[in-house]
Amino acid sequence: MYLTSEQKRIGQRNFWAVVGPDLNPDRLKLETCIPRGFPGGPVRGGIVGVGGQGSVLLNACRPEFIDLVAVCDINPAHQTRACNYLASQGWKQPTQYTDWREMAHKENLEVVIIATPLWSHAEIASGFLEAGTNVLCEKMMAHDVAGCRQMIAAADKAHRKLEIGYPRFYDFFHQAMEQSFFRPRRLGDIHFVRMFTDRNESWRRYQPPPFPGFDPRPWGYPDWEHLNNWRMYDVYSRGMMAELASHLTSCADWLLGADPTSVYASGGIYYYKDGRQVDDHMFVTYQYPGGCNLELVMILTNDFEGLYEEFNGTEGTLILSETAGPLYFPKDPNSIHKGKDNGLTLDFWTNFEIAFRTELWTLCSAARHGTPLLCGTARGLSTTVHCLAGQEAARTQSRVEISAT
Ligand SMILES: NC(=O)c1ccc[n+]([C@@H]2O[C@H](COP(=O)([O-])OP(=O)(O)OC[C@H]3O[C@@H](n4cnc5c(N)ncnc54)[C@H](O)[C@@H]3O)[C@@H](O)[C@H]2O)c1
Repeated sequence: MYLTSEQKRIGQRNFWAVVGPDLNPDRLKLETCIPRGFPGGPVRGGIVGVGGQGSVLLNACRPEFIDLVAVCDINPAHQTRACNYLASQGWKQPTQYTDWREMAHKENLEVVIIATPLWSHAEIASGFLEAGTNVLCEKMMAHDVAGCRQMIAAADKAHRKLEIGYPRFYDFFHQAMEQSFFRPRRLGDIHFVRMFTDRNESWRRYQPPPFPGFDPRPWGYPDWEHLNNWRMYDVYSRGMMAELASHLTSCADWLLGADPTSVYASGGIYYYKDGRQVDDHMFVTYQYPGGCNLELVMILTNDFEGLYEEFNGTEGTLILSETAGPLYFPKDPNSIHKGKDNGLTLDFWTNFEIAFRTELWTLCSAARHGTPLLCGTARGLSTTVHCLAGQEAARTQSRVEISAT
């Protein structure tokens, strides 16, 4: 994106001029993004998998809405780190587990957060649902479509809630985009969307095992390298399509109000020839009904564009950029009432902290009070189907048709 500082200032001002009038400013602050207190007191909760993302989610929890009584991880160092963190934040010392089944059957939890490697989602989530626990399972929903269907069947049978962890459904910017731009069709007809998630990092983790001789074989990992770098191996991971693209496709489908019907892709292991099985560069183009293309770029060797989303419509352009925030450029600059600069602003990363807290609060509210979830299992399933089709298109360097879920 090549815009002058002045163009960025105008784009930001346009965005906030559209969004501002209906805005509850509490949504822009981490401290006030969720309601105070929780009717009936905090729900009884636990977490399975307290590595990178599990730690982010623990950080987003608050004792006012979730009483975290149990922590499970097969890595004892991660267990200890999570329990120390919780104790430092005012929770009681939780019960520690290495076996999620034991936790599911002993703890009588209302909700559980699952942030384990992709291949384990279906089994662990279904196990907790069968035990009567409502579940937030990290994205992608499952390693394959059968796993997604197993999770949905378990949730339906147990009459429990199941949410898939896509923060874009809960953050301020995307909710504002949906309500103020997409719902009123402010951008006109959209025929081109492009989304980038560009980084300059290898994905490889160099963390040592929790102790010399640590043996993860009982949990299906032949050695520490496979557990530590699970996202590099096909058996546990779906690579960039699950880790990066699924955030973007789920969001594009939601905002466009449509599902793609086919996908072209290319990519490969261009740079990090370190034994990984998953691509480090992917270029994926989805076709939507009515003639709209979504172009996804995911690279691990240059972070110039960072996270970037751009929707191009006949009546205007809407951008959300890590480097420039939200920008709106209507075709007719006089179509919005600009008035004075309303002074509203929100940091790009604070927006995602707000997302995770809102997501967890919403899960607890859904479990206790039956209020709606914002992503849901139908979207979790369709996103998995679209991402697996993208992976297949990249593998075969061809066009893959996508059937409706
Ligand atoms: N929503 C987001 O923005 C986001 C961001 C990053 C990762 N994720 C997702 O979160 C999940 C975890 O990713 P991560 O980066 O935190 O991985 P990670 O390797 O950092 O953490 C995984 C944790 O799960 C533990 N674990 C593995 N198997 C287990 C088992 N059978 N029982 C209990 N614990 C087990 C590991 O020891 C580790 O502590 C993935 O599905 C990933 O796609 C989501």
